[in-house]
Amino acid sequence: MAAPPFAADDPCHAAVLAELTYRLRQVFCTQEATAVAMPGASRSGIEAVLNSLIEPDDRVLVGVFGHFGELLCTLAARHGARVRRVDVEWGQHIDPEMMIQAMLDWRPKLAALVHADTSTGIVQPLREIGRACQESETVFLVDAVLSVGGCEINMDAWGIDAVVGGMQKCLGGPPGLAPLAYSDRAAASFSSKPHSAYLDVRRVADTWHNPQPETELPTPMLLALREALRIIDEEGLEARWQRHARAGRAVRAGLDAMGLQRFGDPAHAAPMITLVRVPDGIGDLDVRQQLLEQHGVEIMAAFGPLRGQVWRIGTMGTNAALASVLHVLASLDAVLNAQGFATPRGAGVDAAAEAFV
Ligand SMILES: Cc1ncc(COP(=O)(O)O)c(C=O)c1O
Repeated sequence: MAAPPFAADDPCHAAVLAELTYRLRQVFCTQEATAVAMPGASRSGIEAVLNSLIEPDDRVLVGVFGHFGELLCTLAARHGARVRRVDVEWGQHIDPEMMIQAMLDWRPKLAALVHADTSTGIVQPLREIGRACQESETVFLVDAVLSVGGCEINMDAWGIDAVVGGMQKCLGGPPGLAPLAYSDRAAASFSSKPHSAYLDVRRVADTWHNPQPETELPTPMLLALREALRIIDEEGLEARWQRHARAGRAVRAGLDAMGLQRFGDPAHAAPMITLVRVPDGIGDLDVRQQLLEQHGVEIMAAFGPLRGQVWRIGTMGTNAALASVLHVLASLDAVLNAQGFATPRGAGVDAAAEAFV
């Protein structure tokens, strides 16, 4: 990232962008989709896809099982869509049949879902919904901001037309670009005149493939993404998914052994984030503050209706490692006991170490 920026018509630009296309296709598991990165936070990529697809009053069906499904509804409505929702209680996944039935009833232009919702720690099955989209006129958009690099997200095999990832989670990079990919089928449905000229994926793809002297691309971020993707390639994508799975298993085993209650359907638990209930009588903020100040460990508060009731423990990228898991659990053990919640001391780290196989 500290390398001097290069100009858009510098020959090394084309080489960096071609390498990024190749590597992004790998992480999204697609042979031929157009793969680019939108400058900005991950939601800029989601907005860009929505802006490119939605014309006024288009029907958009959104599955909502957490905060980021809500975000999809908000963004689709802001881009002029008529939004219909399929809701389930936070902590559950959406039964694919519910989504498919709603699609058959309403025939939306676009169906949108989050793959793994960071607010609930639930992974949503996508394959059947993708197949149903492919068999109909519906374009399928998936928010894989949390999941990409941490578990399988298979664009081609699951019938996904557009997918947006995040740099700063399981890809292990800094925030600032939204990697995304879209199929020819999605491109065929793009509006000829999206209302935002900037959030236009076709424009991004055009400048990606034909850099113009007057366009600046954020070269430090592109180099950061390239490095993150090279590191993933060195590890191996499947090995990385397995490392995240092991870390998730270890956290869950450790929390259970400490006598804590996890939140959400365990059968659909995301490997890269684990939600655990704040025990009765224990202060959400006190524990998080003590963890941070005394142990250098940051766990996250919850969103919306879960705020104050649940903590979120991320094991993403380099933190999907036994050392990080043991550090978090040992620290939490110490802080909880200091706050008056007695755990079987040491049981959490022992169980985690055993489960990290
Ligand atoms: C599943 C999911 N989608 C979207 C976002 C939005 O990402 P950003 O804050 O980078 O826009 C997040 C951020 O945490 C997320 O976890």
